Amino acid sequence: MRRKLAAGNWKMNGTAATLSELDALQDAATGAAEVLICPPATLIAQAVARAGRIAIGAQDCHSDASGAHTGDVSADMLKDAGATCVILGHSERRADHGETNAQVADKTRAAWGAGLTAIVCVGETLAEREAGQTIDLVRTQLAGSLPDAVSGANTVIAYEPVWAIGTGKVPTTDQIAEVHGFLREALTARFGKDTAGAIRLLYGGSVKASNAAEIFAVADVDGALVGGASLTAADFAPIVNALN
Ligand code: G3P
Repeated sequence: MRRKLAAGNWKMNGTAATLSELDALQDAATGAAEVLICPPATLIAQAVARAGRIAIGAQDCHSDASGAHTGDVSADMLKDAGATCVILGHSERRADHGETNAQVADKTRAAWGAGLTAIVCVGETLAEREAGQTIDLVRTQLAGSLPDAVSGANTVIAYEPVWAIGTGKVPTTDQIAEVHGFLREALTARFGKDTAGAIRLLYGGSVKASNAAEIFAVADVDGALVGGASLTAADFAPIVNALN
């Protein structure tokens, strides 16, 4: 049985004052779903200190344990700050920093080595969808971004169509079902039924209170990775409650 997961990705938003949203989210976090907030790295330790029932994660890590990488943060550092998870291979990192599938796989190994759960993101651009390349693209990203030692405990997959991120555009439930069904199949083919059946699959891209229930009713959707609507408890709590 996969535990539902409502994950918030604050991206490059938030200061210490924003952490009061964690207090306001506590009630929603008493339900069945796991609630995770990934604030910017600057806030992780403070977020952990007032997280209550909410898990705290990070948005990226370097693949090395330490060394001369100015501005980067290692998985061990995130773990040390109290993070339990790290988002890897988000399309904004793939686009802004040219991250490749192989680099995402290296980062995933580093996350596992530090005892963090990796939330590995895949998803097509609008041009790729319109060219009928969605499944091929997602297949390639999934295969290249995941090392072999995957388990339901150390990995979550997030399907985030790039064209749905921050745009208010959401795929149809059939489109979400097609990709999530494919992801489960591909994981089963590579890792076997038990492991694949334990890995949570999140949908991400313009999830909000008004569309959450419909998205969560889709087969193989085990929760959401939410950007904009995770920044306030007023917006995020109804999404969490749709999973509870
Ligand atoms: O990682 C979450 C994300 O990319 C979705 O963002 O703002 O469309 O919910 P948003």
